[in-house]
Amino acid sequence: MENRPNRGRVVLVGGGPGDPGLITVAGLEAVRSADVVVTDRLAPLGVLHGLGCEIVDVGKIPRGRTTPQEEINRILVAHAAAGKRVVRLKGGDTFVFGRGGEELEACVAAGIPVDVIPGVTSAIAGPALAGIPVTHRGLSQGFTVVSGHVPPGDPRSTLDWAALARSGTDLVLLMAVATLPAITATLITEGLDAATPAATVADATLPTQRVVRADLATIAERIAEACIASPAITVIGKVAGFDPGSETTGV
Ligand SMILES: C[S@@+](CC[C@H](N)C(=O)[O-])C[C@H]1O[C@@H](n2cnc3c(N)ncnc32)[C@H](O)[C@@H]1O
Repeated sequence: MENRPNRGRVVLVGGGPGDPGLITVAGLEAVRSADVVVTDRLAPLGVLHGLGCEIVDVGKIPRGRTTPQEEINRILVAHAAAGKRVVRLKGGDTFVFGRGGEELEACVAAGIPVDVIPGVTSAIAGPALAGIPVTHRGLSQGFTVVSGHVPPGDPRSTLDWAALARSGTDLVLLMAVATLPAITATLITEGLDAATPAATVADATLPTQRVVRADLATIAERIAEACIASPAITVIGKVAGFDPGSETTGV
């Protein structure tokens, strides 16, 4: 029997924040040459229109259907082991709260060749699309991206919220719609000025994009009033009040 090499491999593609125009050229080429694309809920699904590849939807719906990560890993490995070119297409960047590291580990453990194509993370693109630069000379010398998936005080939380309140960096919160009241209250208790500007960007890059601006004391209430739902990014820090018309000076 002829011994042909297995051409199967997995490419972990960060698809950007949602608009199909914000996937990278390399990511788009990988998708177009794939046999199988395994998709997430927040991936730019528009790039799949007209393609003849098999599409496997493993998107997790908040408080709804979910595919366990072990099953997703198994699907990736099984298709690649069968000789398929597999693209794992995610929203944003695969390695920013995307479990890309776990999928990389699973492929390596199974002896499957794997490539990584970084994506534009919503942590930076979301604020940018609302006109908020995550750093700005004179306003901010850094930014810290954290998950708000579990609130301060939750035994599962590993974040030091007191240190974050003192960090002097802007805070960019992902997965923090439900937990924002607890997070903002904790930051104020830990000494961050309640008047610090804050902004929430929901559905960034999508036609449904909305921006709510307030301050640390009121942002949670304002987004509840506006019925903001996931996906949304909240920025806390001077840059959230950035006004391109006003002069700034500094480092
Ligand atoms: C599981 S994390 C994945 C992050 C993704 N890997 C990235 O780099 O953007 C999902 C969270 O990302 C944020 N997010 C992703 N896409 C977004 C979008 N288009 N608009 C606003 N927030 C978004 C939300 O905070 C959402 O709850």
